[in-house]
Amino acid sequence: MNRHFKLIKSTAFMVVFSLLRYVDSQSNANIFELENGNRIASNVTRVGIKQATSDISCASSCSSHGTCCSASYEIETSTCFLDSCCYPVTEAFLDALVIRTNSKKEMHSTNGNNRFCNLAYHRQTTQSSIYDNSGIYGSPCNAVDGLKSQDFYEGSCVHTQKEFVTWWEVDLGAKYTIKSVNVSVRADHSSHYERFSSVDVTVDALYCGYYTGPPHLSEINEPVTITCSDGITGRYLKLERSVHDTFQFCEVEVFANLTVCPDPPEPWTCRELSHQPCV
Ligand SMILES: *[C@@H]1O[C@H](CO)[C@@H](O)[C@H](O)[C@H]1NC(C)=O
Ligand SMILES: *[C@@H]1O[C@H](CO)[C@@H](O)[C@H](O)[C@H]1NC(C)=O
Ligand SMILES: *[C@@H]1O[C@H](CO)[C@@H](O)[C@H](O)[C@H]1NC(C)=O
Repeated sequence: MNRHFKLIKSTAFMVVFSLLRYVDSQSNANIFELENGNRIASNVTRVGIKQATSDISCASSCSSHGTCCSASYEIETSTCFLDSCCYPVTEAFLDALVIRTNSKKEMHSTNGNNRFCNLAYHRQTTQSSIYDNSGIYGSPCNAVDGLKSQDFYEGSCVHTQKEFVTWWEVDLGAKYTIKSVNVSVRADHSSHYERFSSVDVTVDALYCGYYTGPPHLSEINEPVTITCSDGITGRYLKLERSVHDTFQFCEVEVFANLTVCPDPPEPWTCRELSHQPCV
């Protein structure tokens, strides 16, 4: 079992920290959060129901289940509900708590009444060329792995070779009306984020938006947002840079305003992360 957890817990159940025994030396930790007095409201994403003696054993059942990302544990009935990759709606319930890996939050973002789904997460990606053919440094899947590291040497950024025109593309799996795209740039050296410029964004070859760039130093810790022209619909979203250079960035999130976010495809393979379907 290579998945591992770090717990964040606001209340006084120190015993929960024994879950740290699942920690291993790999990076990209799943982080469990517990929410007291809440349970997951519907079972549309339910992947299992079992009896468990404690929240710890419920969390442990979730961690050893291939597709579980969130669980709720009803203390009164000792019932553990396992749910798949999602960020489910919760409801108030006495004597229950919700256990989840907080990386799932990255799929969803709320802004007032609007709910945005990140449609790019764990989708298939391609790009014009790969900087390092070992596939660790610079491969296209790094932009949809859900890891926000902006340090290229942590192995989670995209990097093409130097070409006249460079591009990166994600297959969203179905057609969606795209609202905006957030791109996290490299932050490990100024010569890299300063070259994130002249980026065309298209959806099924239709114009979505253009980012002149480059970002200012004060902006690089937040993603660059490119807003699509109204109503642009399609399946293949492409970023293209027509500068004789490389193309580098770390994460791409593609947002649509949907009431229910689609589940990411599983299994998903990208470098050594293939054993962690829910990261
Ligand atoms: C919950 O799951 C049960 C058993 O799989 C099913 O019969 C029921 O219709 C589900 N309810 C909802 C609200 O999805
Ligand atoms: C998102 O969808 C909701 C519900 O359909 C709607 O009220 C809202 O105006 C939409 N927001 C945008 C930015 O399109
Ligand atoms: C996109 O990034 C900006 C910061 O640059 C952030 O304010 C915004 O919430 C992000 N969009 C979504 C939908 O998460």
